[in-house]
Amino acid sequence: MEFFEPVLGPILTLLEPKSLCEIGIDKGRFSDHLMEFCSQQDCRYTGIDPSIDGDLLKQKNNAEFKLMKCSSIEALHEIEPQDIYIIDGDHNYFTVKEELKLIFRHKENRPVLFFHDTGWPFGRRDLYYKPDSIPQKERQPYSTVTGPWPGKSELVDIGFCANESNTHIALDNGGPKNGVLTAIEDGLSEQIVPKGYHLQTLPILFGCSILYPANSIPQKALKKLVELENGTTLLHPTLELMETNRMTLYLHLLASWEKFEKLHNSYEELMKGYKELMDQYGDLHDHSDKLLGAYKDLKNYKDSLEAQLKNNA
Ligand SMILES: C[S@@+](CC[C@H](N)C(=O)[O-])C[C@H]1O[C@@H](n2cnc3c(N)ncnc32)[C@H](O)[C@@H]1O
Repeated sequence: MEFFEPVLGPILTLLEPKSLCEIGIDKGRFSDHLMEFCSQQDCRYTGIDPSIDGDLLKQKNNAEFKLMKCSSIEALHEIEPQDIYIIDGDHNYFTVKEELKLIFRHKENRPVLFFHDTGWPFGRRDLYYKPDSIPQKERQPYSTVTGPWPGKSELVDIGFCANESNTHIALDNGGPKNGVLTAIEDGLSEQIVPKGYHLQTLPILFGCSILYPANSIPQKALKKLVELENGTTLLHPTLELMETNRMTLYLHLLASWEKFEKLHNSYEELMKGYKELMDQYGDLHDHSDKLLGAYKDLKNYKDSLEAQLKNNA
């Protein structure tokens, strides 16, 4: 999400929030930017992630920033309504829909929401960090060993996030109740999100969507968001192609890297075998030298015996 900072930073400033909640912190790369922003803007920061790193929790959880080591659904029940939500947690339909329900249960609040992973691959395909935390009937069948590949609907061995220990990826792409963007769109059509909200999406870097109440935000922020949407609309086909190209190259790079690692490992194995054979060859060579020496001694002895025989005859 941090790559969006140059675009989102000025918008955040123009929105003049007094509270901001980040869902999904991971290593805290984007959190650092957000915390700095909050310090400068006198805005309260709350971060939520069930797997927050212990050191991060110790360093950053203080009077200025609040960090919660739990799921978004647990935390959103507790925290007060926020001006901004940045949602980059569990990328699946059920979780995002629940997050929307919890955020918009505060009827008077009109927050602005930023979502990551609304493009390929998780815009239309669920990912579960912990499938058991999602009711079974709300879950798509998933794989833990294969991942999505640009332009293919079925998962493949060398696809995105394939074989990563904490990811479980829906077998199908698209269809009802599948993916982050589908959840937001359904949230709008089912009026979980109040009327007057507008959704716009940047189709790059896994996709970033902004959901905002056009009539309740500062005019300057609205102007910036409209400019961004106009630019994005104009460039949309090219941006989509670039994103597909980026992901294809990235996945080929990862696959080549994996292949290289496998080749490197078998090279190391071969070198180990070669060294063992060389050691054995050295031992045999020493042994052969000794045999040759013994043979020479025997031959000298035989020659001396023959000479004695000749003398005695
Ligand atoms: C893609 S990473 C977030 C990256 C981060 N926003 C950044 O820009 O660097 C997703 C994070 O969401 C967290 N997560 C998973 N399930 C969650 C949930 N139910 N609520 C909150 N966070 C969750 C994961 O532990 C993981 O650290």
